[in-house]
Amino acid sequence: IPVDPFDLVIFGGTGDLARRKILPGLYHRFCAGQMPATARIIGAARTEQDAAAYRGQVAEAIAEFLPEGSWDAESVAQFCERLDYVAIDARGEGGWKELAGLVREGVVRAFYLSVAPSLFGDIAERLHAHGVADGESRIVVEKPFGRDLASARALNAVLAAHFDESQIYRIDHYLGKETVQNLMAVRFGNILFEPLWNAQYIDHIQITVSETVAVGGRGAYYDKSGAMRDMVQNHLMQLLCLIAMEPPSKFEPDAVRDEKLKVIRALEPVPPSAIVRGQYRGDANGPSYREDAENPESRTESFIAMRVQIANWRWSGTPIYLRTGKRLRARESEIAVVFKDPPHSIFGEQEGRRGNVLVIRLQPDEGMHLRVTIKEPGPGGMRLMEVPLDMSFADALGPDEADVPDAYERLIMDVIRGNQTLFMRGDEVEAAWAWTDPIIEGWEERRDVPELYDPGSSGPEGALALMHRDGRRWREIK
Ligand code: BG6
Repeated sequence: IPVDPFDLVIFGGTGDLARRKILPGLYHRFCAGQMPATARIIGAARTEQDAAAYRGQVAEAIAEFLPEGSWDAESVAQFCERLDYVAIDARGEGGWKELAGLVREGVVRAFYLSVAPSLFGDIAERLHAHGVADGESRIVVEKPFGRDLASARALNAVLAAHFDESQIYRIDHYLGKETVQNLMAVRFGNILFEPLWNAQYIDHIQITVSETVAVGGRGAYYDKSGAMRDMVQNHLMQLLCLIAMEPPSKFEPDAVRDEKLKVIRALEPVPPSAIVRGQYRGDANGPSYREDAENPESRTESFIAMRVQIANWRWSGTPIYLRTGKRLRARESEIAVVFKDPPHSIFGEQEGRRGNVLVIRLQPDEGMHLRVTIKEPGPGGMRLMEVPLDMSFADALGPDEADVPDAYERLIMDVIRGNQTLFMRGDEVEAAWAWTDPIIEGWEERRDVPELYDPGSSGPEGALALMHRDGRRWREIK
């Protein structure tokens, strides 16, 4: 379904995110016939160049960042006709008049601030001062949304000075991932799971976002942030909210976000004994974390594992274990809901028996599987075994339908549609920082030093021990 006609202005339109994700994503939507004939995309950046030069750059970016075979020169050229460019000075006056002349009345206007957060205020102010934005316009911002509660509050205040909350779209690209939304469909579209979805039946939940990449290239940013700020405060927190929230009464932006907020506010403070931080060593394939970060004394974590508790009726006593890190064995993200054993076994004790597990795989190979117990086939008596009830989206839906849009494509289209469901509200972001801050402050006070781990492993020993102490084990990263 095509969306309404729009003018989308991308500040930072020549930057890395625009080239890697935003513009290739828009091209995909264009190919899918979702872009009305009058839709226009305006790149805005510091570089002095004309629209023709910008179109050339964007065509190159599409060729560079989209897989061979998923684009063709002709449609790229047609897509590029939609592009315009304005050289702009975010902190000065240059370019604003031209921009005001370019945006049209009567179409959706959206401003994507793919720039450093320190520029949000300057741009928001000028958008209004020059009449580029109006009361209907939408503004899109990206993480990092602050680095603690105070800075997140300040950013929210800067945006609120010029835009109403209903106009602000804070992107967490994990919310745009197909399987993440599927989580809601599975929980609230079936009768099967929700009655069991609580501390009475669920032993624990594991959320793993494991990456093979190092931080090389962006070490300077990363070293000031670490896995907690870079991944847990936002992406893992969002996954946790969707897994743990109460059913919203409607699938509507504030109904969903109210429920997520309640989860964040119910998170208990995490004691140091429930957290393990790690830093990768170097090996033949790459430098150590400290070398990547160019900081031989760095105490920043490239890995974190933690046990989180939600203090409410549904979850009291059922821990949620979070784990994420760089340079691990595989790129693998999943949520595993581990159910308790049946209250009584009529088959007696059976070695190595494990209970039901529902695994929701985010990447790669998106899908779900449910581990169930059956009888081992054959005449050997009543011996039990586990088999997966497996649903890979690619197998079940066929390659075309499983060719899911990238997270950014979906989210940008939601901005144009005016649907904020998959965007973080200001109070959600602040609540997440309010929970994160004391944890990070504790590390700083104690000068906590992360434990080293081997690249290609599943993280430091301490992370395994964290689980073992609780009589549980992590699912293997394969
Ligand atoms: C980003 C983080 O937000 O998410 C990166 O800053 C991380 O450090 C990335 O690599 C992971 O995203 P994805 O979509 O590849 O899982």
